[in-house]
Amino acid sequence: MTEATFTTVFARALRGHPCQVVEVDGYDEPRLLPVSDWARAADHADHLLLDRCVGATLDIGCGPGRLSERLADLGHVVLGIDVVPEAVAQTVGRGATALRRNVFDVLPGEGRWRTALLADGNIGIGGDPVTLLRRARELLDPRGRVVVEVAPPGTGLRTTWAVLTCGEERSRPFRWSVVGLDAMPALAAEAGLQEASTHQAGGRWCSVLEEGR
Ligand SMILES: C[S@@+](CC[C@H](N)C(=O)[O-])C[C@H]1O[C@@H](n2cnc3c(N)ncnc32)[C@H](O)[C@@H]1O
Repeated sequence: MTEATFTTVFARALRGHPCQVVEVDGYDEPRLLPVSDWARAADHADHLLLDRCVGATLDIGCGPGRLSERLADLGHVVLGIDVVPEAVAQTVGRGATALRRNVFDVLPGEGRWRTALLADGNIGIGGDPVTLLRRARELLDPRGRVVVEVAPPGTGLRTTWAVLTCGEERSRPFRWSVVGLDAMPALAAEAGLQEASTHQAGGRWCSVLEEGR
């Protein structure tokens, strides 16, 4: 196996090569990255998240852009951001607006977004959900909200080192967290947010966070 950047391996996955996520600490069996779930058009099930987005929405870790595309179609001002250029290119190819940015970089509209969307487990980005939620809070208008897709209740919080493998390439290890619905209230509170509502449909779970009082 040759080592490559996360960007290189993830771009191959987005171009349709089967790619696995391997947890280095070995909590879970290696699993196929569900790229086809992200690359399809947004569907009825995605409305669990889409219906909770209000106003100008920042789609953090937009991947190939199905949610940015649908939000634009629904009339939202929406910006997808992603660290992987192929993801940004695919999002722009769908007619949505996207930038290659790390969520921790300076972003357009800091402090003015009405919704920060963390879909498809993106609360795991960076392996430190409280730091990510604090960053989302900086990006939001004080009346804003974070719409987070979470794992089922009972999952708790699990943080691991993981690598992506694709053919003979393996990415450098990266930190990733899995957050269950049950773990959200405490993480939100640590970040100065509070859980305003929770939603479930079709085996998917969503937590809506707003400014703590
Ligand atoms: C689980 S996939 C999300 C798929 C996406 N939500 C969709 O609708 O297709 C995670 C995405 O987050 C991106 N990502 C990882 N770390 C990031 C960071 N620090 N800032 C922005 N995007 C990041 C990855 O490149 C990847 O596209």
